[in-house]
Amino acid sequence: MKSSYILHNYGNLIQSLMKVTQPKCCVEVGVFEGFSAIVMGHTLKVLSQDEKGNGRQLFAYDLFELYPYTNAKYTDVKQRIKRFGLSDFIELRQRGLFEAENDFGQNSIDFMHVDVSNTGETIKNVIDGWDKKIRPGGILLFEGGSPLRDEVSWMKRYNKDKISSEINSNITLKTKYTSLVLHPYPSMVICCKNIQFDQQTWEEFGYNRFNSASRHAEIDEAELICILSQNENKT
Ligand SMILES: C[S@@+](CC[C@H](N)C(=O)[O-])C[C@H]1O[C@@H](n2cnc3c(N)ncnc32)[C@H](O)[C@@H]1O
Repeated sequence: MKSSYILHNYGNLIQSLMKVTQPKCCVEVGVFEGFSAIVMGHTLKVLSQDEKGNGRQLFAYDLFELYPYTNAKYTDVKQRIKRFGLSDFIELRQRGLFEAENDFGQNSIDFMHVDVSNTGETIKNVIDGWDKKIRPGGILLFEGGSPLRDEVSWMKRYNKDKISSEINSNITLKTKYTSLVLHPYPSMVICCKNIQFDQQTWEEFGYNRFNSASRHAEIDEAELICILSQNENKT
């Protein structure tokens, strides 16, 4: 399976972000052969094992055969998802970025990953179209964002708008999100939608219990070793 995310362990990063934020409704646009979708679906499966009712789901979109520059096939990726035992967690849809938008209501998305051979224009369009669908506290991840990534040959050859310029100038991103760029290739922008400081948000994030009860969970050394060894896997 090919993916530009393998070299610098972006699979691990996506997994860690999901383990911390514990999303339910996840969206990926740009599946290709399925690397990041499988990482996300697997993480949802792991998160679902810790609780009773779950309802965690990744809605994964790609144009597949309709995209002329790659040769990933819908049925191959669907089969791969099945082999990984993730059919209950990943709903694969052959649909484009902007059509997909209509499938989600306001504030319904907890975690979204966009990797469609991104350019500055993609970032602008995604923020314009999808911002209202992402809930406060939700995560929006973009492939790219480093000024170095803007210099890759195809971006220059086709005179594409720079992602870094869009990130630095986009008003919605600057006012409604807190974002961070990671530079190792292919680079990634992690955007977290800002939250309100009000009673409802306080309760939603479960802060009540940290006022009264202990603020620390506790593990023994064997459990810590278990956590460390899980992180030694490549994804
Ligand atoms: C860089 S690959 C995705 C890589 C994948 N996330 C991974 O983990 O390896 C980009 C994918 O975006 C898809 N794509 C391009 N434009 C799209 C669009 N407008 N809507 C949906 N998918 C698109 C292409 O078909 C291609 O498979």
